[in-house]
Amino acid sequence: MRNLEHAVVYEIYIKSFMDSDGDGIGDLLGIYEKLPYLKELGVDYIWITPFYESPLKDFGYDVSNYKKIDPRLGDFKILKDLIKKAEDFGIGIMLDMVFNHSSTEHEWFKKAMEGDEKYRNYYIFKEGKNGTYPTNWISKFGGPAWKKVEGKENEYYLHLFHETQGDLNWENVELREEIFDIMKFWMDLGVKGFRFDVINLISKPEIFKDSTTDDGRHFYTDGPKIHEYLKELNSKTFGLDNSILTVGEMSSTSIEDSIKYSNKEEKELSMVFTFHHLKVDYENGDKWTKMPFDFLKLKEILSTWQIKMSKGRGWNAQFLSNHDQPRQVSRFGSDDKYHLESGKMLATAYFLLRGTPYIYQGEEIGMTNAYFKNIEDYKDVESLNYYEILKKEGLEEKEILEILSLKSRDNARTPMQWDNTKNFGFSKKEPWISNGNGKKVTVVDNLKDENSILNYYKKLIELRHEDDVLAYGNYEELLIGHEKIYAYKRSYNNKNIYVVLNFYGENILKSDEGIKKLKEILSLEKILGNYEKNNNDINNNNNNNEEIGLRPYECLVLKEYE
Ligand code: GLC
Repeated sequence: MRNLEHAVVYEIYIKSFMDSDGDGIGDLLGIYEKLPYLKELGVDYIWITPFYESPLKDFGYDVSNYKKIDPRLGDFKILKDLIKKAEDFGIGIMLDMVFNHSSTEHEWFKKAMEGDEKYRNYYIFKEGKNGTYPTNWISKFGGPAWKKVEGKENEYYLHLFHETQGDLNWENVELREEIFDIMKFWMDLGVKGFRFDVINLISKPEIFKDSTTDDGRHFYTDGPKIHEYLKELNSKTFGLDNSILTVGEMSSTSIEDSIKYSNKEEKELSMVFTFHHLKVDYENGDKWTKMPFDFLKLKEILSTWQIKMSKGRGWNAQFLSNHDQPRQVSRFGSDDKYHLESGKMLATAYFLLRGTPYIYQGEEIGMTNAYFKNIEDYKDVESLNYYEILKKEGLEEKEILEILSLKSRDNARTPMQWDNTKNFGFSKKEPWISNGNGKKVTVVDNLKDENSILNYYKKLIELRHEDDVLAYGNYEELLIGHEKIYAYKRSYNNKNIYVVLNFYGENILKSDEGIKKLKEILSLEKILGNYEKNNNDINNNNNNNEEIGLRPYECLVLKEYE
């Protein structure tokens, strides 16, 4: 397996990737069938979202048995074949572990509800205060983070997510031992990595009190014992095999903590997903708003994290998309006129940063937002919850649907578009979620066209595999504060790579101050770009007085070494 500096990971949202048995839901065998595609693409690891037994209230992130496979998604024989075949192709399988909470259908929770003391201590039960919730914390999916226990006068359990996802009590050593045991169970099957769901929320405060500043998150985000717990998880499970790759999903974390999570010497995790750079289209921090993304803020956040994480020898997972985010080309690019150009530009922007790039299924063919028109099209609990909340706040139906069409997690969850047959070749039956009204891009069409987004991703992956400057190099931002161009330099052992990106659908002229500053850089050898013809060839035929420096969404990767 490639090391984390050179590796590229591909995320599969299992329910929407490939349905092998015609029930409308993607499954493990579907992934098995598509392994040749992933090998051809060149990725080193695939992260598969949860396929354990689950009532699917949060589509698998509500696990009711950590050691069972949901029969709708496959069985152990298929999983073993998948692991083996992937290994033959040089691909490692990463599993998604959800240990901040379990489903309330889990046997542990059921026993806890029956009053079994042992299992009550696996969860977080508290008494209400003054006839209401124990604290004023808000769930990440909207509404209170506490649910009253039925039949009890004044007792509540904590759920930072949906009410069917009870938070686990990591203070309890017995619970932690269960988790270590589950980890070993999956390690024994030969998996090569783990992604840990919202893992920085597992350490809750000693005292539970109301928050006067936020939804309660400052009490439990990067909580008091988080590093202790991760060190223990590492030393007792995956740390026993140092070839295993790990990534923690870190909700609202800090750079300081992220360095600790991912600095090799700390022996916690290999790398972290952080989200600050994706909140640049949240008006006043509120996701459920319509706001064009703030480009200057995006650059500033990326650069700050690049520089500080590098200084602290931490390591970021790099990504613009996943199963919880809208599609990147719709969000930060153009999913219409400049689909091809912006699809490639955005990939270039994040792929060549310091960190390990993650591709989210469909991103490599330029899949767009779903553009659902009716609330009935949505399946995601968070979206459905917020639909109700925004309605109560008095927003018009039309307005709410517009917000959802920009922000809903379902934008990323429409079925993978393989070919031009019925249901895009994803399933013989009606898929569990419709494809919506996004662009009809497909894998087959992308494969046919040499100039496609998919073929460009292959080149980016090769670059990451081969180039040490990208793997180990420093990062420096150029043209800080430029309102249209994001440019950065990676350097290692006196070798430099420059990445120049026009983030907008307009030409930038040579008279632009930024372009003037980049003059020498732009004349270096180009190793990758998203326009077939070189700019100079165009400018020679151009009768305009003003020559063009960068075309709409143009990106260039240039090198300064032999
Ligand atoms: C993570 C998952 C998301 C899930 C949540 C609760 O953010 O990526 O899909 O809903 O955790 O488990």
